[in-house]
Amino acid sequence: MTLTNQIGIFGTSGMAREAGDIAWALGLEPIYVARDEAELQAWSFSAQVVVEQDVEQYSDMPFVIGIGENYIRRAVAERFKDSLQFINLIHPSATFGCGQRDMIERCKGTIVAAGARFTSGIAVGDFCIFNQNITVAHDCLVDSYVHMAPGANLSGNVHLKQGSWVGAGAVVNQGSNSEKRVVGENTMVGSGAVVIKDCEANAVYAGVPAKRIK
Ligand SMILES: CC(C)(COP(=O)(O)OP(=O)(O)OC[C@H]1O[C@@H](n2cnc3c(N)ncnc32)[C@H](O)[C@@H]1OP(=O)(O)O)[C@@H](O)C(=O)NCCC(=O)NCCS
Repeated sequence: MTLTNQIGIFGTSGMAREAGDIAWALGLEPIYVARDEAELQAWSFSAQVVVEQDVEQYSDMPFVIGIGENYIRRAVAERFKDSLQFINLIHPSATFGCGQRDMIERCKGTIVAAGARFTSGIAVGDFCIFNQNITVAHDCLVDSYVHMAPGANLSGNVHLKQGSWVGAGAVVNQGSNSEKRVVGENTMVGSGAVVIKDCEANAVYAGVPAKRIK
C-alpha cells in the first residue's frame, strides 16, 4: 500500500478533471497524465501534469483513468495493467445499499462520482465510470469498461455489457429475475433515451422509446 497522498489520473479532459475533483474530496492530490507533449503543452490548469511516457517513474502512486471514452480507457488500462497500481475512486457523497460499497471496493480502476446511488444485489466490473447522480437499482450487472453518464438510471435486473455507454439522463427499464434487460457490448444509449427492449451489441440507440439509429 502506498503512503503517498498523491494520485495519478490519466487524461487531461473534463472527465479527468472531474475525477480530480473526487480525489480532492478524498484528500488526495491529483497528478494528471497527458498522452503526449502536445496535450501537456495544452494544459492550462494549476495542477501538476506529466507525460505518459514518463508515468512509470510514478509507480509508487495509485492511478485511475479519467478518460470517458470506453475504448481509450480500456487501451490505457491494458497498456499499464502490469506496471501500475489502479485503485477505485469513490466520492464521499455516493451511497450504497448493504454490502455494495465492499463490492465496488473489490473492483479495479472504477470511478464513482458525487451523488451516485447503488442499491442491492449489484455486481460491477473494472474501469467503469459511474458519473454524477446516476442510479443503479437492484440486481443489475455492469461489466467492465462501462460508462454511465450524469443522471442515467438503471432500473432493476439490467445487464450493461462490456464497453457499453448509457447517456446523460437516459433510463434503462427493468428486466426480470429470469431475464435481465441487456444493453449489448460497446453499444451507446443516447442522452435522454428510455430503453424498453434489449439493445444489440455495437449499436447506437436514441429516443423515447429507444430505437436503433446506427
Ligand atoms: C445518441 C448519440 C450517441 C448519437 O451521436 P451520433 O452517432 O454522433 O449521432 P448524430 O449526432 O449524427 O445523430 C444521428 C441522429 O440521431 C438524433 N439524435 C442524436 N442524439 C439523440 C438523442 N440523445 N436523442 C434523440 N435523438 C438523437 C439526431 O438528431 C440525428 O437525427 P437525424 O438523423 O434525424 O438528423 C449522441 O447524440 C448522444 O446522445 N450521446 C450521449 C451524450 C452524453 O451522454 N454525454 C454525457 C457526457 S459525460
